Amino acid sequence: MRVLLTGGAGFIGSNLVYYILSHRIDWEVINVDALTYAGNLENLKACETNPKYHFVHADITDTAKMRDVFEEYRPDAVMHLAAESHVDRSVFDPLIFVRTNVLGTQVLLDEFRRLGGDGRFLQVSTDEVYGTLGATGYFTEVTPLSPNSPYSASKAGSDFLVRAAHETHKMDTIITRCSNNYGPYQFPEKLIPLMIANAVEGKPLPVYGKGLNVRDWLFVEDHCAALATVLEKGRSGEVYNIGGNNERKNIDIVRMILKELKAPDSLIRFVEDRPGHDLRYAIDASKIERELGWSPRHTFEEALPLTIRWYLDHLDWVSRVKSGEYLKYYDLQYGKRLKE
Ligand code: NAD
Ligand code: TYD
Repeated sequence: MRVLLTGGAGFIGSNLVYYILSHRIDWEVINVDALTYAGNLENLKACETNPKYHFVHADITDTAKMRDVFEEYRPDAVMHLAAESHVDRSVFDPLIFVRTNVLGTQVLLDEFRRLGGDGRFLQVSTDEVYGTLGATGYFTEVTPLSPNSPYSASKAGSDFLVRAAHETHKMDTIITRCSNNYGPYQFPEKLIPLMIANAVEGKPLPVYGKGLNVRDWLFVEDHCAALATVLEKGRSGEVYNIGGNNERKNIDIVRMILKELKAPDSLIRFVEDRPGHDLRYAIDASKIERELGWSPRHTFEEALPLTIRWYLDHLDWVSRVKSGEYLKYYDLQYGKRLKE
């Protein structure tokens, strides 16, 4: 099977490329990525020469380019991960979220459909489209969408376009909605890698509000396993929630990281809250467990220390990402970047 995977140079995408190449050895992966600030080809060094892996430097909103890519590679399936993904950035610069997440998704749907095949389109979405929970309850696949940030609103918009492609054009689409991921290669603007990087450097750890917001954390490899399973076995037109059954308050996570690194709690700084900050996310993942036999293999207690170890072993990666030096990797290997 030939899979066109968008956003493969990002956090989940690069983990997914490695997961597929080692767990689905008869699949071929075409990674389409624009290499925004969040895309880092250095992450994929170890598979650059693998004949089952191809990289295409392209922006998913560029219709003409995407038409060429689909015609050249004629994929059997699309795994769509490319997105602007950081809530804080979406507060200040929402347009780029609408452009990539909404427009880009429609371009992919149109160009995949033009090929005329019956390939499957997997939309990798987020639990954030459901909005926020109070102290109790869980998101199920039938929870109404009620997004609160420009990021989650743009993801919800793209989910609706995917649904519409299924209903209107009978495209074989599936939507997954996963909770917060953690693991190797996550850009150090997100909670866990940011806190690790700051604690290592003895810098303050900025905790929004009182740190009482709750997220449901899943190790990225478990998410990748779920995505491969859904692509293979999921029912067309369905939504599958993916989650770790692992709710944590932000402050508890920050304290776990400090403890693991033997750094003092005095590094914690409670800072101004994020505007529109969702209080709690919690996923009911019983549908994917029951129908497709997937469940998470890693507990937080084992995978958080593994993740911290990975960052400690890759402090050079962290510093190249923070300095912007990683952006030069593509230039050196392949030539000019798309966007200066
Ligand atoms: P990321 O920000 O780390 O990576 C995004 C990738 O998309 C980057 O490689 C970037 O270069 C690429 N990209 C951005 N705009 C593009 C464009 N216009 N054309 C082509 N490529 C473009 O994101 P991530 O955390 O790996 O998330 C991947 C997907 O999973 C997103 O769709 C996100 O909504 C979803 N998701 C993420 C999480 C999480 O916790 N990180 C949880 C649930 C769902
Ligand atoms: P984040 O990793 O940005 O993921 P999301 O907003 O998509 O859930 O943030 C996770 C939680 O951590 C969220 O409640 C916001 C909080 N947070 C902080 O308290 N401080 C920070 O510096 C960041 C980046 C996040």
